[in-house]
Amino acid sequence: DRQTKIAPSILSADFANFGAECRALEAQGADWIHVDVMDGHFVPNITFGPQLVKAIRPHVKTVMDVHLMIAPVDPYIEAFAEAGADILTAHVEAGPHVHRTLQAIRAAGMKAGVALNPGTPAEAVAPLLDDVDLVLAMTVNPGFGGQKFIEATLPKIARLREMIGDREVHLQVDGGVDAASAPKVVAAGADVLVAGSAVFRGGSVEQAGVYGENIGAI
Ligand code: DX5
Ligand code: ZN
Repeated sequence: DRQTKIAPSILSADFANFGAECRALEAQGADWIHVDVMDGHFVPNITFGPQLVKAIRPHVKTVMDVHLMIAPVDPYIEAFAEAGADILTAHVEAGPHVHRTLQAIRAAGMKAGVALNPGTPAEAVAPLLDDVDLVLAMTVNPGFGGQKFIEATLPKIARLREMIGDREVHLQVDGGVDAASAPKVVAAGADVLVAGSAVFRGGSVEQAGVYGENIGAI
């Protein structure tokens, strides 16, 4: 049995009130807090870095799930570990030595995730599955919140679940997850749903409709 987890993305939070926003998400039952780090180079937007993770860490006990949309990754791994990140996810497209990066993330004491853009085939992560704790299938092109869910990613999610097999590896989806797309990604095999605009537009985790009776345990 896999229990679906919800990881609200603070990309859609009030940037002047991160502490309060994170406490509210925890109170609403967020399983993880998803932190989108963007560098204006790997993706066409800039957000925040390890200092923000360090600043929000004392406000919540929630798992701190950090999604790096940066290149290179390796020079920043230690800083995210020190800041209190629990899971650090790097993109398979972010550099030529992703396997080394994943090893370095684990060596720094964090769980390691590997992310794939919508245009990257599932097979790109096949050689990495024994060295990760999480696979993140992007369901929009990374860079911005509030984009439309790309339906064509659904077969890839199913393929990734099949490839993961009986490994203890989470399959996370990120982008355009709302009450309409959440049941589809869960049916395809996802067990961790990132939701930014759906949570903050709805006013709460529950009202986003990506949790609770809409999904439940599968
Ligand atoms: C997009 C980010 C997402 C983003 C999702 O590049 O990785 O985590 O916050 O936002 P929504 O749920 O609004 O698509
Ligand atoms: Zn993300």
